[in-house]
Amino acid sequence: MTTHLKNQPIGSTFKNSRLGSNQIPVRHMQFVFADDFPVNFAFNNALTTSVFVALSAVFPSGERFFMDSIRYFRDHITDDALKQQIAGFIGQEAMHGREHDRFNKALIKKGFDVEIGVKSITRGLGLLRKLTPVQQLACTVVMEHATAHLAIQWLSHADLNRLSDPKTLAMWQWHALEELEHKTVSYDVYKILDEDKWITRFIAVCAVMGVVIPVSIYAAIVIAYKHGSHKNRKEFIQGLKLLFGQDGFLRPLITKAPDFLKKDFNPRNDDTEQLEQVWKEKLLGPNGIINEFYMNKLAS
Ligand SMILES: [Fe+2]
Ligand SMILES: [Fe+2]
Repeated sequence: MTTHLKNQPIGSTFKNSRLGSNQIPVRHMQFVFADDFPVNFAFNNALTTSVFVALSAVFPSGERFFMDSIRYFRDHITDDALKQQIAGFIGQEAMHGREHDRFNKALIKKGFDVEIGVKSITRGLGLLRKLTPVQQLACTVVMEHATAHLAIQWLSHADLNRLSDPKTLAMWQWHALEELEHKTVSYDVYKILDEDKWITRFIAVCAVMGVVIPVSIYAAIVIAYKHGSHKNRKEFIQGLKLLFGQDGFLRPLITKAPDFLKKDFNPRNDDTEQLEQVWKEKLLGPNGIINEFYMNKLAS
């Protein structure tokens, strides 16, 4: 992967931020993906990489759905702090969508069928957009919860960090850090609406499990097949273990998805503050991974 260094360290810009402690920073990243990153960049495995490609393909549309579902209620919010957090949430998700779009172009050049993921998720989210605005927001809460658990994996999964291409992984880890920084926003907006009925939560969990997960799995299967992930049996089985084994990367998606149905559900129940602090420094500090690998700019 071509790397670009910029003479201004983004870490120092970040520290000079005037944001308060509970505000959400919008970092204007510009990852540059050239052609020379390893084709099996995730876990050095064709199957797990195909799953990452499917995730990257579905992210931009997903981020737009999240933004739209929250933006719809923005004017209902009177609390200034939450209003600012909403602005941060929308800004961060917009950046994630943009950077994954950029990454997807590099994946297409590598021969991955990104388009199948884009088409599948567009159709799936089209169905979710037929729900009421509150139900759509509840779906966002469920998906944000799932994304937060994926984010924990991106930052702490030992095999992922040991086996993956560190430069490519850094983009995912930036996304992960920000997912944790804004993980409470959609829930806080949802709770304020005073329409928190059990049936709304149930519909949201069913919609995500019944529509979003299957279209994403379908996309992953097609991408993996076209990538030839099944051809090397040993590698394929290894990939399955990495995804679904005892410490499998995707396991939290299965185990954590129904949490939203619990009475005491709150994204704050998963305390990730220390993880965020560690990775903020590791990625964005003066000697951070992103400074080392990429040209970036922070506009705010
Ligand atoms: Fe995101
Ligand atoms: Fe998010």
